[in-house]
Amino acid sequence: MRCKIAILPGDGIGGEIIPESIKVLNKIGLKFEHEFLFDYGNIGGNAIDKMGVPLPTETLKLCEDSDAILFGAVGGPKWDDMNAKYRPEDGILSLRKSMELFANLRPVKIFPALISSSPLKSELIGDVDMVIVRELTGGLYFSQPKKRWVSDGQRYGVDTLGYSESEIDRILRVGFELAKTRRSKLTSADKANVLETSRLWRELAVEISKDYPEVEIDHMYVDNLSMQLISQPGRFDVIVTENTFGDILSDEAAVLIGSLGMLPSASLAYSDNKSKDKRVGLYEPVHGSAPDIAGKSIANPIGAILSVGLMLGYSFSLFKEAEAINRAVNAVLDMGYRSADIASRKEKSISTSEMGDLITEYI
Ligand code: IPM
Ligand code: MN
Repeated sequence: MRCKIAILPGDGIGGEIIPESIKVLNKIGLKFEHEFLFDYGNIGGNAIDKMGVPLPTETLKLCEDSDAILFGAVGGPKWDDMNAKYRPEDGILSLRKSMELFANLRPVKIFPALISSSPLKSELIGDVDMVIVRELTGGLYFSQPKKRWVSDGQRYGVDTLGYSESEIDRILRVGFELAKTRRSKLTSADKANVLETSRLWRELAVEISKDYPEVEIDHMYVDNLSMQLISQPGRFDVIVTENTFGDILSDEAAVLIGSLGMLPSASLAYSDNKSKDKRVGLYEPVHGSAPDIAGKSIANPIGAILSVGLMLGYSFSLFKEAEAINRAVNAVLDMGYRSADIASRKEKSISTSEMGDLITEYI
């Protein structure tokens, strides 16, 4: 197979972890006889510096012309001015919106070797295996009005939480479909006791559940869910939720498996609800640009490497190859190798590129 992949390392540790996932892809290409072609683009803070905008048209075009996108991270203190015209984050947000990448899948599965890296008791996390399905192109992130202004000598700000029926319908169906391929349990997180959008969400979830009698659905308020995610994490299979709730829950879920550095994600677009033709998918680790550790070669590349595994499966249906990546990551962890974020006090940690090399070697 021949695949054209847009590579957007972005800012901070993005430039350190992405090269490691490329090493892994090249090894997969060699071993399984595929040709992966890479084309690089600027996004985020470095794009603001070089081209004046966080998502240059060249970058968007490159993404549209590719079979898949591999993204690192954006942001950093250099661009943290709250009153700046553009922020690095606008780069990834516009890319998600422009390519209608509305379905963000964030799998959270325990690595047996890392049970002791979790701050939770091992008996609680032994069977953690869930996917958070986060709506990615609506809600508070994008709805209008969204602005700041001054009136009567006071500063005001407003964000809007809006969702249409079709936006909710399509993400709920992604959740139901995914649950069908797993343990058939779907938890829909909302705040229907307070929010109108959540009442609509719950109403639609109840209606759509009739099309999926084999899936057991559970509606939970997001505050309660965030507690149960820690007290009974093993009970969750697929969690489906709106943009902001999903953002917060997925960082929380990362703690279960020891580090945010371990989590991969896939952002997918479907051409419509019925046909499952996938358009260009974007793959990125859940963590951010981590400016505090950037340039030190200590970032964990596993989230980015596992994201490449998701790419092989979701975008190219290369399931054997994706499995080879998961196995290599597990093997390296089983042998006791740790990056700094997952090393306990007694354990010696290895660098970003040493971790990438080892995983590549074990493919
Ligand atoms: C994420 C990140 C982004 C988000 C930021 C960088 C805009 O936190 O992918 O979870 O909030 O979606
Ligand atoms: Mn986030």
